[in-house]
Amino acid sequence: MNTPVPDYLADLLRNCKAAHGGELADYIPELASADPTKLAVALTTLDGVIYSAGDDEHEFSIQSISKAFTYAYVIEELGLQRVMRKVGVEPSGEAFNEISLDKTDEQQIKPKNPMINSGAITVHSLIPKAEKSCRAETVRLFFSKLAGRELAFDQEIFHSEKETAFRNLSIGYSLRNFNILESDPVEIVESYVKQCAINVTVKDLVNMMSVLVNDGILPRTGERILSHKTVRQVLTVMTTCGMYNAAGDWLANVGIPAKSGVSGGIIGVLPGQVGLAVFSPKLDRYGNSVRGIDIMQQMSRDMGLHLL
Ligand code: DON
Repeated sequence: MNTPVPDYLADLLRNCKAAHGGELADYIPELASADPTKLAVALTTLDGVIYSAGDDEHEFSIQSISKAFTYAYVIEELGLQRVMRKVGVEPSGEAFNEISLDKTDEQQIKPKNPMINSGAITVHSLIPKAEKSCRAETVRLFFSKLAGRELAFDQEIFHSEKETAFRNLSIGYSLRNFNILESDPVEIVESYVKQCAINVTVKDLVNMMSVLVNDGILPRTGERILSHKTVRQVLTVMTTCGMYNAAGDWLANVGIPAKSGVSGGIIGVLPGQVGLAVFSPKLDRYGNSVRGIDIMQQMSRDMGLHLL
């Protein structure tokens, strides 16, 4: 089928092959063996029609992109107030794996936002624990529902990260010390690492995002999954914190709420209009995909997506 949008997406990928530089993430040993030539893009319209190009069947671990969806799940389950008591919404201006605990005006200590690891580990701990399975399994089922297919854990990535998760474990112990985590930090960090190891393609990501584009209703089924208030909260923190210490640059150049992951994915959402996902494994020094940013910038320019 020769429709204009897929041609446009394929052209984008051809043009962006010129974007060089970046390094594979290597602090998770298994990520260092990713194929650096993989390149994919996908788009969902408001009514959930999906277009994609490049390596759009290639699976990669969702990593930090998961943080946005788990945050949505937990707000929906617990209510915003309870989540806000544990995790703030201020940009940290620091790397994603900084410990970043902040003293609020009420002298309470809490992670600055849910997109950095300290906040995401805390959000993960808030998932109501099912009797016979780990919290990561709850997340996997939720993500699968949004994606419209059964997603799986990447066991190699999970074990590789779990065995080298010293920094996240130290964040976990620190959170436990301040009673922000209320149970065993090792169990929580391991389950958070498993959440990050759920495999997706760019097509899965835009299917998942269609619920954010469409104000909480999954266009594929017509079911309301998230309230308007939850969607607004998630998109707000994606705007201010989704690209970590490159968030200002991103907002100036691309101008839409976004979230990146260290395996090389980036998602971007323009509410009421489109959801975009890109994948290319080489990262800049902030942990964001170099070619991914290049493609997103082009799409933002070509389609006039900047919020302002
Ligand atoms: O916790 C970690 O370090 C990884 N599982 C996720 C980090 C990540 O994706 C950062 N994003 N660019």
